[in-house]
Amino acid sequence: PSPLDLVVIPGDGIGPELVDSALQVLARVAALDGFEYRLTTVDAGATAYRRTGRALPDGALERLRAADGVLKGPVGLPDVRHPDGTEAGLLGGLLRTGLDTFANVRPMRLLPGVTGATRHGPGEIDYVVVRENTEGLYLSRGAGAATPHAASDQLMVTRVGTERVVRYAFELARGRMGAAADGARRVTCVDKSNVLRSYALFRRVFDEVARDYPDIGTEHLYADAAAHELVARPQTFDVLVMENFLGDILSDLGAATVGGLGMCGSLNAGTDAAYAEPVHGSAPDIAGRGLANPVSQILSLALLLDHAGRTSAGDRVRGAVESALSRGDFELGERGQPVRGTQSVTAAVCENLRPG
Ligand code: NAD
Ligand code: IPM
Ligand code: MN
Repeated sequence: PSPLDLVVIPGDGIGPELVDSALQVLARVAALDGFEYRLTTVDAGATAYRRTGRALPDGALERLRAADGVLKGPVGLPDVRHPDGTEAGLLGGLLRTGLDTFANVRPMRLLPGVTGATRHGPGEIDYVVVRENTEGLYLSRGAGAATPHAASDQLMVTRVGTERVVRYAFELARGRMGAAADGARRVTCVDKSNVLRSYALFRRVFDEVARDYPDIGTEHLYADAAAHELVARPQTFDVLVMENFLGDILSDLGAATVGGLGMCGSLNAGTDAAYAEPVHGSAPDIAGRGLANPVSQILSLALLLDHAGRTSAGDRVRGAVESALSRGDFELGERGQPVRGTQSVTAAVCENLRPG
């Protein structure tokens, strides 16, 4: 087989440190699993914007689309802004719309060895947030109306856009072993259909799609109640599907229950392209000091390997993170930061990648 064609976007802030860590893990797992890969680096994000006036270089989308997968570090710097006040160095809109990666898959798992920031036990939390990734409130990006006195954005939900992401969530639930504590396979629809028409359409389409999946249970929660339940009873969830903006917020909330943002990777998946990135941002407050938790980027790599058909490699990477953590080969502090720094985690994960 030809080598896996991977594109790497190191990103801003802690991005380059995390991507470097994930690439060490990739080198090791590829050797163990017996596959070859080729890396191309694309410079994109806020630093690139500051240097060139563009967050994403010309021709990059075509290159990304042609690749087997893209591993992206977090991008964005709070002081790189457009005149309207929004950030200029972000790639979310350009990549998610440009590559039509309509499903943002954000697994939330509480791993053995994570103790500080949670009152739940290992294995108790294991669900996936499927965030609609191309419309909802984010369709307003760069549109909307703004004067110095008032500004508005529009939340747009379409039948086509909802149907494909809901179907993705049901297929994902079918493929899972019923990870919720009661063993059930279930998709939870999260919305505010009690108040807003856009969310009412989202729920209606959800119910229509659900009829094609009689083997999968369903549940509806309003987003405010969902926020409560995700903290109070996270063990009851399996797969959740929701509009873009709700998914953005509730996935950071979920991260707080599984050891912090540094534990959460994600995959932006479409029909023709995919890219993996941490759920969190570029963490300028700790950038360049070797303090960040690279597990988010390493678990993103695992999702990318799954997507590229290398599921045994993906499983190996997840297994190595788990065994390193549970053996105490690296330790996380109260807020999920590695006690002995980024490289201590990378080394421990690589060390736990063993033949067999
Ligand atoms: P953030 O997620 O970067 O940081 C929030 C807090 O979590 C900070 O205290 C940070 O130090 C901590 N944190 C995040 N990741 C960590 C890790 N791996 N290990 C240890 N601690 C970690 O959010 P923010 O500060 O609101 O945003 C910073 C920048 O990132 C902004 O420019 C924002 O627009 C951008 N952003 C980008 C993405 C992306 O590229 N996908 C996602 C979110 C935010
Ligand atoms: C995320 C981020 C992005 C989003 C920003 C940086 C555009 O918060 O990927 O979760 O809001 O989608
Ligand atoms: Mn976010």
